[in-house]
Amino acid sequence: MKIGRTEACGFAVFSVMLFMVACRGEISHEDRKAAGQGMINQEVKKVSQADIFAAGLLRGRQIAEAAQQSLGKKLKETMVNKGVYEAIRYCNIQAYPLVDSLSTSYRAHIKRVSLKLRNADNAPDSLEDVLLNAYQYNADNNMALQDNIVSLDEKYLLYTKPIRIGDPVCLKCHGKAGSEVSDETFSLIKSLYPADSATGYKIKDLRGMWSIRLPVKDIVNAMEE
Ligand code: HEC
Repeated sequence: MKIGRTEACGFAVFSVMLFMVACRGEISHEDRKAAGQGMINQEVKKVSQADIFAAGLLRGRQIAEAAQQSLGKKLKETMVNKGVYEAIRYCNIQAYPLVDSLSTSYRAHIKRVSLKLRNADNAPDSLEDVLLNAYQYNADNNMALQDNIVSLDEKYLLYTKPIRIGDPVCLKCHGKAGSEVSDETFSLIKSLYPADSATGYKIKDLRGMWSIRLPVKDIVNAMEE
């Protein structure tokens, strides 16, 4: 599902896509029952689809916040104590294990994806690509960028949250090459990521998004607690 990044297209596809997933993602009474089967109390309470989405949105926010805090804190610490050079190595070596361990502790699949990649492993899948393009459309047109939740299938919801270049510190590694990103930094980045295209950003630009897959079962179980 590749879509063009023309403005009209981006917006139209976003609304159509949301409609599609909303339909496809209907969570039937049976699904909800199945989802809640782990409960000790078998009496299935009335949980509406809207309630599941609302709870999923809150859970996604909580996880994205924790992941952002944890990556950001480590990055800043490394930059202050050891400098940009080491911080790049830190991002190169540690970003993945950190996000993976958060994925395990939250029982959710957490990713950072972008349209202009540094690490090719952070490439969006087809749905993420549509969502990212929709965020990009909104950013290009000065419209609000809000987090979002959609249904993937009867088992999973996908929470997404735009990531902006919110702090001038980001520009040291994602800003203009040769000035904001020093030559030394840039050559280290290029040696680690020869196909890097994640420079040239300005403050407030959309850098990418958090993409967090949440099991419906967990959301329903938490609601029943
Ligand atoms: C010290 C250099 C450095 C700084 C500062 C930095 N980044 Fe990065 N960033 C990297 C590296 C290196 C990667 C690739 C990490 C990997 O291999 O997964 C990356 C990857 C990313 C990605 C994943 C998408 C991709 O292109 O692979 C996002 C999103 C991102 N950075 C956002 C930010 C934001 C927002 C800030 C500011 C809060 C920031 N970065 C600050 C070096 C940096």
